[in-house]
Amino acid sequence: MIQSILETIGNTPLITIPNTNKANEGQVLLKYERFNPGGSIKDRPAIYIIQEAERRGWLKPGGTIIESSSGNFGISLAMIGAAKGYRVIILADPKTTSANLALLKGFGAEVIVVTEQDDSGSYHKTRIALANKLAKEIEYAYRPDQCFNMLNSEAHFKSTAREILDACSGNIAAFITAVSTGGQLGGISSYMKTYAPDVRIIGVDAAGSTIFGGQAKPYRIPGIGLSWTPVNLHLSDIDSAYQITDQQAFLAARAFARHEGILMGPSSGACALVALKIAQELAPGERVVCMVSDGGERYIQTLFNEEWMTEQEFATVSDTEEIRAMARQLQPWSLCPTDEANYRPDLIQSLDVPETTLSINAEMSNRAVHR
Ligand SMILES: Cc1ncc(COP(=O)(O)O)c(C=O)c1O
Repeated sequence: MIQSILETIGNTPLITIPNTNKANEGQVLLKYERFNPGGSIKDRPAIYIIQEAERRGWLKPGGTIIESSSGNFGISLAMIGAAKGYRVIILADPKTTSANLALLKGFGAEVIVVTEQDDSGSYHKTRIALANKLAKEIEYAYRPDQCFNMLNSEAHFKSTAREILDACSGNIAAFITAVSTGGQLGGISSYMKTYAPDVRIIGVDAAGSTIFGGQAKPYRIPGIGLSWTPVNLHLSDIDSAYQITDQQAFLAARAFARHEGILMGPSSGACALVALKIAQELAPGERVVCMVSDGGERYIQTLFNEEWMTEQEFATVSDTEEIRAMARQLQPWSLCPTDEANYRPDLIQSLDVPETTLSINAEMSNRAVHR
């Protein structure tokens, strides 16, 4: 018998997409993170960071968890808070969907919607700065700090990456995932470069995000992108990066629901499109593993709402041949991501990153838990 919902985090399946992926090319395997109890991959770093904070005495019974998140990480923390009895405060923004706000509140979290944009036109910096301020003001508060805390990528190094390599018995030609805090891509790339260095590592970002350099502009893909390169990501572990447009991401996610019966959000649509592109270049028997970070229900009012799609002036239908052609036309944004590094150590001070994060990161650099 399972004693707590939290024990069901992880061990998600790898799923093929036979209606879109042809037999005469490489095989796409989707790592389907919707099967986590909070509905996304973020359950993994959330439980890992909370358990570590409990172990270190930073989070005690009666404590409050405060985090900046436009969606999935906040929902995971809200679920964990409900299961363990912590108060949870989430700093969201106007891009947070009403479905996500409802889920956060359903798990009992208090939600503050930050409306002030930062200098890049997104809300990341204003959300983080306010979360850090509140964490100082509220007694017995703990800030998991997904954006700067390197335990985020360590969670994936220790669970997600090992699961993937074990499930494929080491037979993987390429690995693809989307980037925001860099937790997934950072942790998994680091693991692959250590234990399976031949795996090609590909990061997927939103066109308009500047994680891999470029000019900042607004974009609509939720959960992806940042206006700097996150500390959780070692660009030297990344072989190439793609930037995907809103329309490409949304159309691809809709196509995988329609033609494969697989619900996924727009960030995963973007990744699966890149995975198809890579598979088209691989031989039968070679595999590309692609993270599907969450499911589609979270985007019922956007991705799966015909009126919203029309308002965005996105097309509404795409058959598998159109999706395959769209994939074929993709070109890498960067073949040497280290050249595009946009790390911002100054943010540690200007956003007032918590002491708990700084001490973890210093410890991790010293013990070199992962490279
Ligand atoms: C749906 C979705 N995809 C991708 C990502 C990117 O993951 P990471 O923050 O580990 O880089 C996120 C992060 O919030 C997300 O919610």
